[in-house]
Amino acid sequence: MTWKTVMAMVAGVGFALPAMAQEREFRIGLITPPVHVWNQEVAALNETLQERSDGRFSLAVFPSGQLGNEATMLQQLQTGALDMAWLTSAELTFRVPDMAALHAPFLVDNIADAARVFRSDEAREILDALPRATGTVGLCYAMIGMRQMVMRNPITSAADLNGQRIRITPAPAISRFFEMFGAAPAPMPLPAIYDALANAQVDGLDMDYESIINFRYYEHAPYLLETNHHMFGMVALVSGRVWAGLSEEDRALISDAMQLHCDRTIDRFVEEEDDKLARLREAPGIRITEGVGPEFFGDIVERWDAEWGEQTPYVARLRELVASF
Ligand code: BEZ
Repeated sequence: MTWKTVMAMVAGVGFALPAMAQEREFRIGLITPPVHVWNQEVAALNETLQERSDGRFSLAVFPSGQLGNEATMLQQLQTGALDMAWLTSAELTFRVPDMAALHAPFLVDNIADAARVFRSDEAREILDALPRATGTVGLCYAMIGMRQMVMRNPITSAADLNGQRIRITPAPAISRFFEMFGAAPAPMPLPAIYDALANAQVDGLDMDYESIINFRYYEHAPYLLETNHHMFGMVALVSGRVWAGLSEEDRALISDAMQLHCDRTIDRFVEEEDDKLARLREAPGIRITEGVGPEFFGDIVERWDAEWGEQTPYVARLRELVASF
């Protein structure tokens, strides 16, 4: 007799099943396509959950923004229409201002230090605001690689970026960074980018190596500036309503499984970042300017910190943390 049969029988005679016995397929949404590292780790998470719950728990995965963009998925989590999602930290900055500090320009200069920030107590504290602000529980961080710029035309100085329409992930903190050096940021969700670039609606992108490779953005934007200008987080979220309905044991099981795959995602990005740049060096037609640092953008770090440091103490706290590495 399967658990489904047992549940149907018990429901028929009016008894409640103990929470431990519930069989459940959780709906999980992502903006990224099946080839992405996040999606690979979500597929692996599905296996881990099935193994550790003796088949009671599994995932139905909705990739590529099938359920809508990240703002829509966050609303669905809030109402309980969606059980789980892996969303960008950028999306969460709209509801949790402290999260903007994770997008501080040039906070770290390499991906290994980015991993240390995402694993820090300071970053974890920021997750504590999620239930009240979003009706979700943030179980762990993972990341995408460091962000770079890919442009349609050659860029030799910050002046060349002036007035350039550059696609960004929607988030005021990222938008302000681009405005501060005179670019025109164009917020746009990931699935909309390729067409916008191919149709020349944007002059370039704020993007990571993983997606530059997956979507072959260099076919239309072959000038890559290796800026590492900000790190980019992912938060593994569970609907607060769904969480409230789970037993302590099941919450622990799901938290541990999620943490395992958040950690693996971070480790993979750290390990694979150099190799991705090496692969891009071989991509047809690409021109890479390596080692573009904060000095390229003048006093942008001071200006951004002065503005965003007023909105959240985590700008100063994360800069202190990184200085201590
Ligand atoms: C983006 O908006 O650029 C993005 C979102 C999720 C994964 C990778 C990139």
